[in-house]
Amino acid sequence: MIHFLEWDSHFFGYKTGLINILNADFDIKQAIKFGKEEGYQLCYAYIPPELKLINQQSIELGGILVDEKIVFCYDIPSLLENVSPLSPNIHYFQEATLNSNLVRLSIQSGKFSRFNIDQNFKNQEFERMYTVWMQNAVTGKNDDKVLVYKVGQQIAGVLALNTRLKDTNIEILAVDFNYRRKSIGTQLVERAFEESQLLKSNTIQVVTQKANKIACNFYQKMGFEMAKITNIYHFWL
Ligand SMILES: CC(C)(COP(=O)(O)OP(=O)(O)OC[C@H]1O[C@@H](n2cnc3c(N)ncnc32)[C@H](O)[C@@H]1OP(=O)(O)O)[C@@H](O)C(=O)NCCC(=O)NCCS
Repeated sequence: MIHFLEWDSHFFGYKTGLINILNADFDIKQAIKFGKEEGYQLCYAYIPPELKLINQQSIELGGILVDEKIVFCYDIPSLLENVSPLSPNIHYFQEATLNSNLVRLSIQSGKFSRFNIDQNFKNQEFERMYTVWMQNAVTGKNDDKVLVYKVGQQIAGVLALNTRLKDTNIEILAVDFNYRRKSIGTQLVERAFEESQLLKSNTIQVVTQKANKIACNFYQKMGFEMAKITNIYHFWL
C-alpha cells in the first residue's frame, strides 16, 4: 500500500513513503490511515489525472498537488538532420568535485521542483537535494555524463545525461539566467542526442513539470512528445 523510501527517509530525517496508484479501485483513505499508524511523516502519491475521484479524495484528505509531472520522449532518428554544428564550447565536465557555478545551475534547474514548491520543507531540502544530485552526476555515481557549455571560464549551461538504462534520460538541464535564449539549451540537447546514439540508445526522455511552461515549450520545439502525465500529491501526516 505504501512503499517505504529508504533514500528519502534517510535524507530528510523522517519516515517517507510512496503511494503509487494505478487504478480506480485504490482506497486512498485507507492508505493515509495506514500511513499515520505506521509513523510516516511524508507520503508522495502518484495519481494518473484521469482517476478523477481519487484526485478529488486526495485534496479532501489534505493532499497538496505539488507537481503535474510530464514525461517527454524523443525518438532519435538514425540520421540526425538540421542539428547545429558541434560547438567547441561544449565539453564533458571532468573535475571530480562540484564548483559553485554548477551548484547554482543545478538549483536553477529545479525552480519548479515539488521540493521547492512545497512550503512544508523547512530545512533547505530542495537546495541540499539538488546539490547532492549534481554531485552524484559529476562523480558518475549513477552512470551520468555531465556536459557543460562554457563561455570563457564560466559555465553557462549544464546537462546531465543518465545512461544506466536502455533509454537515456536527461536528469538535469539548465542555462544560466544571463545566457538564456541564445540556443545554448538547444545545443546541449542536440549533443545529448548524439551521445545517446553513440550508446546505441534511440530514445531519450526527460521529466519536467507542467507549470514549467518554458521547459515544456523548449522540449516541444526540439521535437519531444508528451508521453505521460502524473499528478503528484504530498501528504504530511
Ligand atoms: C529551458 C532552458 C534550458 C532553455 O534553454 P535556452 O538556452 O534558453 O533555450 P534556447 O535558446 O535553445 O531555446 C530554444 C527554443 O525553446 C523555446 N524557449 C526557450 N526559452 C523560452 C522562453 N523564455 N519562452 C518561450 N519559449 C522559450 C523557444 O521555442 C526557443 O526557440 P526560439 O528562441 O527560436 O523561439 C532554460 O530556459 C532554463 O535553463 N530554464 C530553467 C531551468 C529549467 O527549467 N530546466 C528544465 C528542467 S526539466
